[in-house]
Amino acid sequence: MSTTSYVFAKPHLLGIAGLNFPEAVSLLDRAEGYVEQSRQTDKTSNKLHGLTQINLFFEPSTRTQSSFEIAGKRLGMDVVNMAVQSSSVSKGETLIDTAMTLNAMRPDLLVVRHGASGAAELLSQKVDCAVINAGDGQHEHPTQALLDALSIRRALGSLAGLRIAICGDIAHSRVARSNVILLNLLGAEVRLCGPPTLLPSDADRWGAEVFHNMDDALNACDVVMMLRLQTERMNSAFIPSSREYFRFYGLDRTRLGKAAKGALVMHPGPMNRGVEIDSDIADDPKISLITAQVEMGVAVRMAVLDMLAEAKNKDTHE
Ligand code: NCD
Repeated sequence: MSTTSYVFAKPHLLGIAGLNFPEAVSLLDRAEGYVEQSRQTDKTSNKLHGLTQINLFFEPSTRTQSSFEIAGKRLGMDVVNMAVQSSSVSKGETLIDTAMTLNAMRPDLLVVRHGASGAAELLSQKVDCAVINAGDGQHEHPTQALLDALSIRRALGSLAGLRIAICGDIAHSRVARSNVILLNLLGAEVRLCGPPTLLPSDADRWGAEVFHNMDDALNACDVVMMLRLQTERMNSAFIPSSREYFRFYGLDRTRLGKAAKGALVMHPGPMNRGVEIDSDIADDPKISLITAQVEMGVAVRMAVLDMLAEAKNKDTHE
């Protein structure tokens, strides 16, 4: 178990942008200890006993919300899930009104997912507690990138020098954006691949090499990260058909053969099987990190909640 005593100096986790190398590594190191804790029969500690965590999800989520809920409970916190559809938001209350109402209940940690880029940052300016961005529009999803990095680090030892391809719907993906920043920070070489319609116009300035051909992008890659086609964020047809998409941009065993020997496959979920990834590889435990990603998600979120609570505690006692 890691015993890092590094104290995180940031009041919120709004994105990977702005994190420095020691901050990122200390989060991953702390998460290692929580992987161990989560594998015990008794998974709960009293570390953050007495604190209140509110999960405020304006967009549907299965794994991220439950992962944050489990993470908070394993640290001994009281965790409240705000069901936004049934709350005053559906009666016209604004994001800020909701935040102010929740703030008055004196939570210690607020986990926010919202369809608008920048929503988490806006909230963080209005409340007294620590805010964690659980995905804001097409902008960032920092805990996803951290759990991805932890999954890779545990599987391959280190991220430095690895060649990692992120493929698919990059344009609509906050996962891709956070991952490019974190993987670069940790010393990996990042490639982006997708059809021109699904790559942001500024992709060449993200710090990754851009490809439109999957076979070229996968060449000698150690890790292939596939992304979901985010049709809910598309306001017109970005691809001719999902069958044609799979033919050119889907990942199956044959195409994976272009990557380095022993290359690993990742997906943040939810997966569109047969659209961006073939079940044959997604479900093969020898090459797929997908289940590990979900497990690491809880550990990373425990680390983030813990680090932010610790930073706040230090702040109020100085
Ligand atoms: C991602 C998201 O919501 O951005 N999912 C997740 O958090 N596991 C990716 C996606 O929705 O495709």
